Amino acid sequence: MKANLAIGFAVGVMACAAAGAFAAVSAQEESPSDAAVSAPAKSQWDGVYSSDQANRGRSVYAQHCTSCHGPDLTGGEMAPELAGGDFAAHWNNQTLDQLFDRIRTTMPLDVPGSLSRQQTADILAYMLRSSTAPAGATDLSTQSDALRTIKYLATDPKAE
Ligand code: HEC
Repeated sequence: MKANLAIGFAVGVMACAAAGAFAAVSAQEESPSDAAVSAPAKSQWDGVYSSDQANRGRSVYAQHCTSCHGPDLTGGEMAPELAGGDFAAHWNNQTLDQLFDRIRTTMPLDVPGSLSRQQTADILAYMLRSSTAPAGATDLSTQSDALRTIKYLATDPKAE
């Protein structure tokens, strides 16, 4: 119990330091756990992959995914689309590490787990580009910790 209070206090102090006097007031009203949960700042609309990476992803996709999900990611007889409104609605507000893990552990459906982390990240970059998310200067990370900081948002919040 003492430890919990200490952690709560530390979180409160951090929130105050980060957000200033206003947060100092509201942190007292919120429970410490609310104060600790902060929304990821980035989404796929902020240029989180490189153009080269999406090009690499396109070849990996063509080899391992096209047969079921179609050359244009529009889906096939059995497999769902991987770009477009239904897909976006399905993944809206999740983080990229969740989508990454879904691909890496369950796809390709006939040989799940056969893709490397690099191949998975490259395919994900290609999928994002196919959903009109812009390219940026650096590659999308292959590490879950980094991917967890990027949200998948159905629409670009800056365009709303
Ligand atoms: C043998 C056919 C087949 C292949 C090859 C295949 N998939 Fe799939 N995929 C499916 C089916 C069927 C589903 C839906 C059922 C399920 O999730 O198991 C699916 C679902 C998915 C989903 C979830 C879609 C959603 O809306 O949540 C993703 C993401 C995905 N596949 C990505 C890939 C990627 C990337 C590749 C290539 C590395 C790939 N798949 C290869 C058949 C396939």
